[in-house]
Amino acid sequence: MQNVQQDIQGDQERRAPFLSVRNLSKHYGPVRVLNDVSLDVFQGEVVVLLGRSGSGKSTVLRCVSGLEQINGGEIELLGAVARKPSDLHGAVGFVFQQFNLFPHLTALENVTLGLRWVKKLDRRTATERARQALSDVGLEAHADKKPGRLSGGQQQRVAIARSVVMEPKLMLFDEATSALDRELVAEVLVAIRALARQGMTMLIVTHELHFAEKVADRIIFMHEGTIVEDGPAAEVIAAPRTAQFRQFLGALKAPDDIDEDGQ
Ligand SMILES: Nc1ncnc2c1ncn2[C@@H]1O[C@H](COP(=O)(O)OP(=O)(O)OP(=O)(O)O)[C@@H](O)[C@H]1O
Ligand SMILES: [Mg+2]
Repeated sequence: MQNVQQDIQGDQERRAPFLSVRNLSKHYGPVRVLNDVSLDVFQGEVVVLLGRSGSGKSTVLRCVSGLEQINGGEIELLGAVARKPSDLHGAVGFVFQQFNLFPHLTALENVTLGLRWVKKLDRRTATERARQALSDVGLEAHADKKPGRLSGGQQQRVAIARSVVMEPKLMLFDEATSALDRELVAEVLVAIRALARQGMTMLIVTHELHFAEKVADRIIFMHEGTIVEDGPAAEVIAAPRTAQFRQFLGALKAPDDIDEDGQ
């Protein structure tokens, strides 16, 4: 990240996108999964990515996080082109549907791990920061519990704290609430909204449309590996331009919300 930060100079660059994905393509063997995907995320912006199952949302996040090699195009973070996945890895935090906590470690130990072994902080400093991060997601009272004694919502908040404590430039969320029981979803969404209010730049995949409307500055809709809509959240939802997005929104609406034409 050192090089990336040194590359930021002058106002012109500061107004440039924080994250810029240009003409990204990705295929698995003969299967084209992403086709010419371009999107920008500006500093402090919250962008929600919507789309049907299989449209390529997770693949976009995985490419942006450096988990996947890309087959074409460019990913630029903070004004510097990522030449290899590891250029992105340290700068990007990722929260998945599955929490992937270490079951034999306490919440506090799970959050401390990266600070100790990646950031090389001493035990005391790492522990202090981890406690603060757990407190930020409302879990100060649960720091010494192992994941097995925490609810799904609490475990996901530990996973968020573990990611945020590493001070990423950009946070990615891939259906962070999809594995949770209905009544536990809200507490995780509250933690994500709190991060948004603190100015964290975020790219979020979610099926929670109401949450998307509340948290997103901008909404991007993907269909079959391409972006077909991209605009201010309220505008895009109130007036979808494409039949694909209208259908998608129609399918998410409750039956009594269905329009006369059936969409
Ligand atoms: N490792 C892989 N090998 C082959 N095909 C893959 C692989 N990963 C994903 N795909 C395919 O790429 C397409 C996009 O997948 P992706 O997981 O990005 O979709 P998604 O929009 O996140 O869907 P969902 O809403 O179900 O999570 C799908 O057709 C999927 O089958
Ligand atoms: Mg997915």
